[in-house]
Amino acid sequence: MSIAEKFATMEYGPAPEDPKEAEAWLERHGRRFGLFIGGAWQPPVTGDYFDTIDPSNGEKLAAVAQGGVADIDAAVRAARIASPKWRALTPHARARYLYALARLVQKHSRLLAVLETIDNGKPIRESRDIDIPLVARHFYYHAGWAQLMEQEFPGYEPCGVVGQIIPWNFPLLMLAWKIAPALATGNTVVLKPAEFTPLTALAFAELCQEAGLPAGVVNIVTGDGSTGEALVKQPDVDKIAFTGSTEVGRAIRSATAASHKRLSLELGGKSPFIVFEDADLDSAVEGLVDGIWFNQGQVCCAGSRLLMQESIAETLMSKTRDRMSSLRIGPPLDKAIDIGAIVARVQLDRIQRMVAQGVAEGAICWQPQVVLPSRGFYYPPTLLSNVHPTSIVAQQEIFGPVLAAMTFRTPKEAVELANNTVYGLASCVWSENLNVALHVAAQLKAGVVWVNCTNLFDAACGFGGYRESGYGREGGREGLLEYMEPAWFKHAATLPAANAPVAAQVEERPDASTPAIDRTVKLYIGGKQARPDSGYSMEVRSPDGRLLGEAPLGNRKDIRNAVEAARKAEAWAKATAHNRAQVLYYCAENLAQRRSEIAQRLAAAVGEKQAGAELEFGIERIFSCAAWADKFDGAVHNPPFRNIAIAMNEAIGTVGVICPTEAPLLGFLSLVMPLLASGNTVIAVPSEKYPLITGDLYQLFDTSDLPGGALNIVTGYASQLLKTLAEHDDVDGIWCYGDETAVAAAKAMSTGNLKQVWTNEGRVIDWFNPKQAEGRWFLEHATQVKNIWVPYGE
Ligand code: NAI
Repeated sequence: MSIAEKFATMEYGPAPEDPKEAEAWLERHGRRFGLFIGGAWQPPVTGDYFDTIDPSNGEKLAAVAQGGVADIDAAVRAARIASPKWRALTPHARARYLYALARLVQKHSRLLAVLETIDNGKPIRESRDIDIPLVARHFYYHAGWAQLMEQEFPGYEPCGVVGQIIPWNFPLLMLAWKIAPALATGNTVVLKPAEFTPLTALAFAELCQEAGLPAGVVNIVTGDGSTGEALVKQPDVDKIAFTGSTEVGRAIRSATAASHKRLSLELGGKSPFIVFEDADLDSAVEGLVDGIWFNQGQVCCAGSRLLMQESIAETLMSKTRDRMSSLRIGPPLDKAIDIGAIVARVQLDRIQRMVAQGVAEGAICWQPQVVLPSRGFYYPPTLLSNVHPTSIVAQQEIFGPVLAAMTFRTPKEAVELANNTVYGLASCVWSENLNVALHVAAQLKAGVVWVNCTNLFDAACGFGGYRESGYGREGGREGLLEYMEPAWFKHAATLPAANAPVAAQVEERPDASTPAIDRTVKLYIGGKQARPDSGYSMEVRSPDGRLLGEAPLGNRKDIRNAVEAARKAEAWAKATAHNRAQVLYYCAENLAQRRSEIAQRLAAAVGEKQAGAELEFGIERIFSCAAWADKFDGAVHNPPFRNIAIAMNEAIGTVGVICPTEAPLLGFLSLVMPLLASGNTVIAVPSEKYPLITGDLYQLFDTSDLPGGALNIVTGYASQLLKTLAEHDDVDGIWCYGDETAVAAAKAMSTGNLKQVWTNEGRVIDWFNPKQAEGRWFLEHATQVKNIWVPYGE
């Protein structure tokens, strides 16, 4: 074909990347890889290997060790041995290692990009221009944090040995997201790559050797799900960080519930891509290309649900179909390819199955006329229209190049549709009207909102989900907190196990010789005193057995009513931080006024000295929370694009709180107040030891302008009420402070809907010590970061 002819057709010729270097690397290893444990390569104890293949042609690339329980044990041991020295290094020394890793990633970027592409099937254009540069950026960014650790996080300690499990869609990038913050904060690591894509993690192990990283600081154990399971269950692991399917996330949550392992989960998504009628439609179509056809749609935050304003739906669909017709699908090493291969046969089958089911449910399937390569696993870009919001293709993660399109009429409807999912990872809003876009962004239940852009990532901007998309953030300052704990908390003593509750029900009231009942309190729901549904009460006795009064025995129905009231109390969530502070100050003022009478009553349960201290510290604690209410601000990041990313500290939503027994008033205030200060609505179960405090509390809140429903108090047996709170789909988080049994129950019971749980891990907290019982640490747990990306420029 002549140049003139080529120019006329603008056809692409093949432009393959040369895989020579990667092939040579595989050959150098005899196409067989052991495990990287304690700084050296070892064969797996069982002698088992599995094949990793090139999904673009189905050919075997190498045999990789199948790590077993014994290998995981050895790797955790190596990490444990390496731990004391690694954490004792100066911040600067650790920073130098991370810096060296960043440099080495850059130095070997071509090898890494090609390895990634042949192992995963993603276009070389993406691995070369997106994955690998972001990997380097992540190590550079965290080299910086390593350097600043002592200045920025005084009093914090690393978790210790961290187990990390990653998926196959961004193999090396997910490794970087996991390993860089873990090392920067002084942890040592055992990482298990995904079975379909282990090669770049093995190449990274070599970079660790090249950087002279001390033996055992990073260990790489390849294998399948059973290897991951062994790592999760290994008793000497202090924290698990997982990215992958929601199903496995749930299994991990359940497997770790009874332990003190910290857990961060980055799970699936079904992210909305909302296009308003005033959007720049051509840009929005390009956004879609990056949103759903990037990495063959195998992206947890893929914009897989297209929500179009009705008036522009036809035009947008037509533009989208045109653009889809020009996407090039084929061998991923070709530099001019847009869509490469699907990672594995099972994933291809899954995509085909789900699309077929969507069509059976009424969706109309459109695909451009493309010729797929005869070998390997390919799936064409796909547009599903006429999708019902309840269809499987609108609700479940397909993890393929498949877009499900729906329409909406008003911004309100767009928000409702967008939030109509169990997930909450990411979202896109397209509108030339920034007011509308930001207004919608604020209402989306998602950890990331891209305004007029999509799938942008940066190490400085935390990434992570709401709801069943998981919890915890990766990247940014907030990402570091997942790998550290305040030193005092890590070393706090264990609370003695609480005695089984002994209070009897009123019907079985003992003999008449007991002293007259002093007080009867009620529940506090929706700003009103309420009788319990059960009609029963629990007796409250002093330590020496005197009857102090009766508190209602709340049950499931009461909790449900309280959750409903909390959900309705949106006014509180929307109140300005200044208003919230004012209400809290008012509470403090009222508590100060009634100080002596409340202390007198409380003294019957905890003694005069403690009661006085609870009041004194309680007033101060409320002041502290009021002070924080308008100061716990977010941040504005400047990622290396023409963007700002606004990191907002958003309330978690509706939070159930099981209050500590030992300090009935102060414990209650220490937990409930930071939640209220940051805009959450709360259902609190007060101390079983002295639930009568409820009577004083509702009088306090009633007279302090707290809107009804912002705080609800249900007395009763914590173990029973916890279950309803933990299982309730409208409760977004649980704070449970109690003994080890109670906190394990809180974690286990909320596994189903994966709500975030924060506990004292059964440890003693000194509620009278402001260093332990108030401040940023509480607010950080009362909020989650939402990053809103906004581009600027012409
Ligand atoms: P997966 O969740 O099974 O695998 C992710 C990682 O977890 C892999 O390293 C795997 O070996 C490991 N693993 C599996 N079972 C485990 C267990 N019981 N305990 C500990 N680790 C375990 O994901 P899979 O099967 O590869 O993909 C299935 C679907 O999951 C995809 O179609 C997609 O919808 C979703 N997915 C979502 C990802 C995300 O980033 N949100 C990433 C990968 C998959």
